Amino acid sequence: MNAQAESGELVLYCSVDENWCRVMAEAFQRETGINVLMTRRSSGETYAQIRAELGQPRGDIWWGGTGDPHLQAAQEGLTTAYQSPMLTELQDWAVSQAEASDYHTVGIYAGGLGFGYNTDLISDDAPACWSDLLDSRYEDDIQVANPNSSGTAYTLLATLVQLFGEDEAFDYLRELNNNVSQYTQSGSAPIRAAGTGETAIGIVFMHDAVAQAVQGSPIKTVAPCEGTGYEIGSMSIIEGGPNSENARIWYDWALSADAQALAVQANSFQVPSNVNAETPPQAPRLADIALIDYDFALYGSSEERTRLLERWDQEIGSLAR
Ligand code: G6P
Repeated sequence: MNAQAESGELVLYCSVDENWCRVMAEAFQRETGINVLMTRRSSGETYAQIRAELGQPRGDIWWGGTGDPHLQAAQEGLTTAYQSPMLTELQDWAVSQAEASDYHTVGIYAGGLGFGYNTDLISDDAPACWSDLLDSRYEDDIQVANPNSSGTAYTLLATLVQLFGEDEAFDYLRELNNNVSQYTQSGSAPIRAAGTGETAIGIVFMHDAVAQAVQGSPIKTVAPCEGTGYEIGSMSIIEGGPNSENARIWYDWALSADAQALAVQANSFQVPSNVNAETPPQAPRLADIALIDYDFALYGSSEERTRLLERWDQEIGSLAR
């Protein structure tokens, strides 16, 4: 029997960009001999899959994606409590995420929401604020994801509610809809489309816009002037998964400074949660962004996330062209 067969398998549900998922899976497999079976899906989709598999879970670990659906999964008992010895190495915001969920999830990275635009397509009077995106000159020029599938787009919805009030946020989204050409499935797809000039503006996490610029696309990253929300990208062990011991091995490893340093190799520029992991110089610095005091407990609760998504479906999704 070879080492791999002895060490067994790990079924990884991954909700960051595919490239980073692959780099992590390959490094873990190399270091431990554990064979990783990885599927990449957006945050809301992964949550829905784990929920659909309740009673017969096929996944072991959910790594990455925005924290709200991880908190919802925790509340619904879809994930398992685990207090990793690595918690002592983490930033306060990552530990808060663990404490808020009775250790059913934990922060692995953070990043602010914003947008990016293609500087070949928009040169004068560039958008700097959320309100600028409502300008009729951007008709059909904006892409953003659907908040049911995408944690990025749900973060936008919850951010607008916290910034402007709920009815005002839905008024904003209704107006924005006039300028949206497409609601994508994945959160970062809009900025990839802006990078190639397929659209002018993508509403995404700022680090996703930076990633396009680093790869040479003509993308400028914007921290909206009114202030903005942010994500605590999270990780959770799936309750009753087939390889629970290997899930804990992944969990401890993924919280290490060395594993978090792999992000840059995968062109990912979030702020890492391990205090000893270097924040890439290109990463948007959270201290430089006007961040709201995002209420993760409320917007990650089952009732609120379900309610806001239903309202989005009724009032905005129904308008989608
Ligand atoms: C990108 C970002 C991550 C974020 C994720 C959410 O991969 O780089 O920071 O957590 O999107 O993906 P989703 O498709 O659910 O919006």
